[in-house]
Amino acid sequence: MISDIAGPLQLPSLQGLLSLAAERGCKAYMVGGYLRDVVIAQLHGKTKSKTPDYDFVIEGGSAVELARETAERLSGHFVLLDESFDTARVVLADCQIDFAGCTGSGLQDDLKRRDFTINALALDPAHPEVLIDTVGGMDDIKSKSVRLISEGAVVDDPLRILRAWRFAASLGFSIESDTRTVLERHMSLLSGVALERVSYELFVLFESEDAAVHLKDMGSTGALEKIFPELKATRRVTSNAYHHLDLFDHQIEAVKQCEGGFALMPARARRILTRPMAHGLTRFGALKISCLLHDIGKPDTWVITEEGKHTFIGHDKLGAELCVPLARRMKWSKPLERFVEKMVRWHLRPGQLFHQGDPTDRAILRFYRSMGEDVPELILLALSDFRATCGPGLQVGREQAEQKLFELLERYFVYVDEAGNLPRLLDGKDVMALLGITAGPVIGSLLEALEEAKQLGEVSNRREAEEFVRRLHAEKYSR
Ligand code: CTP
Repeated sequence: MISDIAGPLQLPSLQGLLSLAAERGCKAYMVGGYLRDVVIAQLHGKTKSKTPDYDFVIEGGSAVELARETAERLSGHFVLLDESFDTARVVLADCQIDFAGCTGSGLQDDLKRRDFTINALALDPAHPEVLIDTVGGMDDIKSKSVRLISEGAVVDDPLRILRAWRFAASLGFSIESDTRTVLERHMSLLSGVALERVSYELFVLFESEDAAVHLKDMGSTGALEKIFPELKATRRVTSNAYHHLDLFDHQIEAVKQCEGGFALMPARARRILTRPMAHGLTRFGALKISCLLHDIGKPDTWVITEEGKHTFIGHDKLGAELCVPLARRMKWSKPLERFVEKMVRWHLRPGQLFHQGDPTDRAILRFYRSMGEDVPELILLALSDFRATCGPGLQVGREQAEQKLFELLERYFVYVDEAGNLPRLLDGKDVMALLGITAGPVIGSLLEALEEAKQLGEVSNRREAEEFVRRLHAEKYSR
């Protein structure tokens, strides 16, 4: 028996909802993710640390109306989710409650119409000692299986095709084999699903520790290309002297290497990676998405030279350009769009720094300054790309090459700390007075060059700064 499962029913918020339901003569059953996660926690010891989110099915009344009244009574925020499906949400200080009207003839029927057996457990607050399990959810939680309740479930809502992988990934479960066959059979329906919904499920999947394993499985069923048609052409690009995998698999391998690379990052970089980016997605999740897309510009830039060499000149730029309409189509937020575009555009840059031997201090500084706060992510992307590239042409000097990327990251943190502590030597007004010129873009360029010289230690006080600005202005900007 699962202990304490009904504990939250004592919360004032849920008590408030239950008494209101009783007053209105309807019945509220607890269902969904909360019950599933408590059972998983007790059987498998996995814990969840997000804000509690409770789902209730309302029998014998309107779920939307009950949600509206609950929000009023508990001073919460009411959100109408979908009037036609009778769904709404109440956001309270300590939790969030989702309300859904009972579909079909009653609770039993409603549970049968849900997606997976593990999501179809229910609790009647009047009998909290009995967990209602009409479709075998407990057994599937025990065996860690994601099993569709019926084939019709994916026809009714094809998003559930993707949800199968997102639950497998986020819970560490496997998709049961008949379910997988059904998912494949109805794969074409995935193209018709609203892309905000697709993105939400994808974000949860990318946030899981082993997203790459599940992306690989999705790849083998065609699900990934349904979501990102841009990936289709990457299957054409075969392995070569540098790449041991074809391009489609290389990009998934880059996600895997990124997941493995996280632990190798210094603690400070790991903290940055776990910061939020957008809609429940961390910077690390966003980076994994970038890994999956980093080479989408390759198919259209692929040339095999007379000597048999494979080249992809400009694939970084083209890939970045392709990411913009992709992000807009998927309804990603602007910060996420900009981040993915930037990662794809500059993914070669850390490696390129070392192409002609060790870079100068100035080249490294310019790299830091131009990439801004995204340097740690870009370095992890470059490392992941490198580790996902194991062709025979690349076996020499691997360790040294990786070492250089780690050093580049270490120096970045020194740069960030020092740059933040250096005093400002001159501002725009000082420069105008010094040179007797008026405001204009030249001032900005001079200050930019002065900043660089200061960070390189070439200029350290006001006198030197004035001399530097005078000389540069005379050399570059005065006729
Ligand atoms: N559900 C469904 N089909 C969907 C979405 C949801 O059958 N396309 C049902 C499932 O029973 C699910 C419940 O509605 O458990 C709540 O859905 P949701 O909040 O999306 O997921 P949770 O299972 O609560 O999981 P999590 O909180 O981790 O997102």
